[in-house]
Amino acid sequence: MSGFAPVGVRCYGARAMPAPATADYVARWGYRTLDARRYERRRYGGRMRRLNLRLLEWALARALSGVAPDGLVLDVPCGTGILARFLAARGFRVIGTDLSPAMLAVAHERPEALGHVRADLEMPPYPPGTFDAVVCTRFLMHLPAESRPRVLRTLAELARGPLVGTVCHPYTLKTFGRGVRRLLGRQAKRSPRLTRSALAAEVAAAGLRLERVIPVMPILSEVWVVVLRVPSGAQLAAPRGGVQ
Ligand SMILES: C[S@@+](CC[C@H](N)C(=O)[O-])C[C@H]1O[C@@H](n2cnc3c(N)ncnc32)[C@H](O)[C@@H]1O
Repeated sequence: MSGFAPVGVRCYGARAMPAPATADYVARWGYRTLDARRYERRRYGGRMRRLNLRLLEWALARALSGVAPDGLVLDVPCGTGILARFLAARGFRVIGTDLSPAMLAVAHERPEALGHVRADLEMPPYPPGTFDAVVCTRFLMHLPAESRPRVLRTLAELARGPLVGTVCHPYTLKTFGRGVRRLLGRQAKRSPRLTRSALAAEVAAAGLRLERVIPVMPILSEVWVVVLRVPSGAQLAAPRGGVQ
């Protein structure tokens, strides 16, 4: 794979996107023309959010500990490329991929990635086993549940090693607080969350192995970093669709 994207080659932009998209959800469209710098400030700016990012990186480092230091890592969807510096600092060679030209324009300014490719992660332009690992943060919970196993499998097949993703779980003070508000008859936001058994069922439906679940910060953070893998020697069966 070293010939895949030589240092300095930036390859996104000019190519036409293949159609059609196989699943539809808000995140597919919502990031195309937004102010990506503002997105990054809101998501990662400020002391607490920076701390969250450090904690996430720490969990990702544990998840990627078995990957060779010079391994080729796909960051997808890379968004503004916020993880590129962290990944490159660990020695990984990073390719970023995203659908949004606005996000990629910011990612492109970061020198740490080898390059960026504009592509739909449901139809990735890479052969199976191209990467040593695939990293997928802040995306899976945007997908309709019925699409997740298929997308998990698509991403996992791109890696010779692990697929490392983030999902949101309900075992936090925040979710508990929301439950209490509802019990008291007050309004509380409902966000998609995966229980441990729902996660296991989705991973099984994708025909993958769930190797590790790493909480970013137990009780306080709703984010789990999960390590998934195509079972060795296994011929993957077609994913059985979603888990309700
Ligand atoms: C919440 S952002 C997360 C970005 C980044 N991983 C992060 O942690 O900041 C979701 C990203 O998913 C991208 N996206 C949504 N659907 C996609 C698809 N089908 N293929 C590739 N990227 C997609 C959006 O363009 C957006 O950049």
